[in-house]
Amino acid sequence: MNINKVAVIGGGTMGSGIAEVCAKSGIDTIVIEADAAAAETAQARIDKSMDNAVSRERMSADDRVAAGSLLRFETELSTLDDRDLVIEAIVENEQIKLDLFRKLDEITPAHAILASNTSSIPIINIATATSRPGQVLGLHFFNPATVQKLCEIVVSIATDDDVLATAQSFAEKRLGKETILSQDRAGFIVNRLLVPYLLQAIALFDTGQASREDIDNGMRFGCAHPMGPLTLCDLIGLDTIQSVAEVLYAEFKEPTYAPPPLLKRMVSGGRLGRKTGMGFYEY
Ligand code: NAI
Repeated sequence: MNINKVAVIGGGTMGSGIAEVCAKSGIDTIVIEADAAAAETAQARIDKSMDNAVSRERMSADDRVAAGSLLRFETELSTLDDRDLVIEAIVENEQIKLDLFRKLDEITPAHAILASNTSSIPIINIATATSRPGQVLGLHFFNPATVQKLCEIVVSIATDDDVLATAQSFAEKRLGKETILSQDRAGFIVNRLLVPYLLQAIALFDTGQASREDIDNGMRFGCAHPMGPLTLCDLIGLDTIQSVAEVLYAEFKEPTYAPPPLLKRMVSGGRLGRKTGMGFYEY
């Protein structure tokens, strides 16, 4: 199946980036937002990002106009009756996502693939909210989606092989992403590796064995990471790390995934990282 018409549900941090990537790749894209004001905000966010790409000469003015003409912003799911692929990127709340997928199942054409950008909700739970579980999978983009090359593809025990092949080909050939394939387990591949590493860095800092700078510099200069783990925690947001750690711990019940006490205290104290001006560093 060829994917020519896409919808992205939710035009926030991730959805706006995913929609921009689709439009830049020449794909007719509808962004659905919760209401008119949110749709305007999403459009402004994408416009600003594409204008920046033009001013930094990463995109030609003609391509900017072409991409802009492929994007539509809507608030009604009924506009999705001709879509080949829907990528959901709304709030990380299982009940809200299940309600949405039930509606998408009723509105989208029978051939449409329904994908979620969820970081932690089992794909099989989303799939079974629809009458087409074989056509549901995870397409997990990374932040910012316009810059990060990776798209993790997540298949549930119900995902059909041809649906996986179509989605993989779309992500690689149409969007130019690198893909990796994961079974439907908490954390998929990247967060399952990354989060315990970040938790270990926090626990190490908490023992007083080393300073924040030395922990970060150890990984920057010893392992060529672009930034150290505590700087990365501040960038991601400590609340996000705590919630992903809780999901991993709930799934595997292994101490390595348990949020360390310092992380929980910092989240309780509102020291969430860059977004609140204070985390392991001050901003
Ligand atoms: P966000 O809060 O920035 O954006 C969510 C957007 O969805 C908002 O603009 C909101 O108005 C809209 N929305 C909520 N309910 C809606 C509905 N029923 N219909 C239409 N629009 C609706 O959230 P963010 O960070 O973009 O996360 C979205 C998803 O992507 C979540 O599942 C999250 O776990 C996942 N994710 C987030 C990453 C990140 O770094 N922020 C990375 C990878 C995945």
